[in-house]
Amino acid sequence: MEFLTEAEPMLNLNPEQLQQHATPFYVYDLNLLHQTLQLAQQEANKYNFHVHYALKANANAPILDAMREVGFGADCVSGNEVKAAIENGFAPKDVVFAGVGKSDAEINFALEQEIFCFNCESSHELEVLNELAEKKNTVARVALRINPNVNANTHKYITTGLEENKFGINAWELESVLELLQKLKHVKLIGIHFHIGSQITDLTVFKNLCTRVNEFQEWFVAHHISLEHVNVGGGLGVDYYTPEQNLIPDFAAYFGLFNQFLELQPGQQVHFELGRALVAQCGTLLSRVLYIKKGVTTNFAILDAGMTELIRPALYQSFHKIQNLTSRGAEVKYDVVGPICESSDCFGKAVNLPETNRGDLIAIRTAGAYGEVMASGYNLREKAQAIYV
Ligand code: LLP
Repeated sequence: MEFLTEAEPMLNLNPEQLQQHATPFYVYDLNLLHQTLQLAQQEANKYNFHVHYALKANANAPILDAMREVGFGADCVSGNEVKAAIENGFAPKDVVFAGVGKSDAEINFALEQEIFCFNCESSHELEVLNELAEKKNTVARVALRINPNVNANTHKYITTGLEENKFGINAWELESVLELLQKLKHVKLIGIHFHIGSQITDLTVFKNLCTRVNEFQEWFVAHHISLEHVNVGGGLGVDYYTPEQNLIPDFAAYFGLFNQFLELQPGQQVHFELGRALVAQCGTLLSRVLYIKKGVTTNFAILDAGMTELIRPALYQSFHKIQNLTSRGAEVKYDVVGPICESSDCFGKAVNLPETNRGDLIAIRTAGAYGEVMASGYNLREKAQAIYV
């Protein structure tokens, strides 16, 4: 997949400027964020597509401000995300609530806020939503999340659109779901929803999704059901390998593909739920080297950041580019690890870095999505600060 290279490379970050902050901390390049969002919005607008930003990727207030200001809605997966979106100023009509396990309290809160739509994932959930909406004497708008059984060709932990996954309603259940919906007077079907996985860089996967969506659309037409919108989820991947070059995903190719291959019914809207592709590139985790330690086969560079700040490498063996911002000189291989008492607390094995010393500032790139939000307090660690440049 191609990536655009128009943005100024980030990490023109001035190490001197960064020295003043206690490590570890996240730094976000708001300039790059704005460029990314503007490009995404411009490409989506070409086809009148609507983007809801997936708050799960990063829900920091300045990030949400930028998303709202550019005109995106909010895709939420918990009551607290719905709350964060509304408190940030997103209009309830621009808020979608998804998730396979919404609690009664969360549903009630979202009903009270009169959000745009609940993305529902099972018959059971529809029944509960109907019951709670009835108690409030209201009607909840719903989209059915359908599991299209399309392989996203990504890491198995972030593949969601296969029948073996817990997500969505399977094709063979749809008939009975429609029968149920006819009985439920407090939910109104307005759309269908798909999300097949995350960090997808092979665009043919999305083409396969379009083919399946078109088949489901035909099925609904045959059942005389009209749908106001089709939500194709998120999942567009970013370039973790050469962040200094490929900063902004190719939104033109991405939205253009859906425009080319989705077959819509008259008046239907298309919704997207992008997270990572909007926010990953603008975030970096900054850390300092605490110790250099000789191992049997390798040297360890032990950082003051660990899996508590960025769990992706430990959880998915994901690659994040690691750079030494302080030292120059001949390269040496290091296993770059954190201070946490787990062997999986490792940011990268055999990483080439200039000979590295205690106190050097280390940048772990492309950490704006699923970084800070997935932080934990394991080992009673303090939460890393966020700074914005
Ligand atoms: N919509 C739904 C229903 C989702 O489950 C997700 C992500 C998104 C949208 C946004 O997907 P994105 O555009 O960001 O790919 N923690 C993992 C990623 C988990 C993604 C979960 N769902 C990681 O760090 O790679």
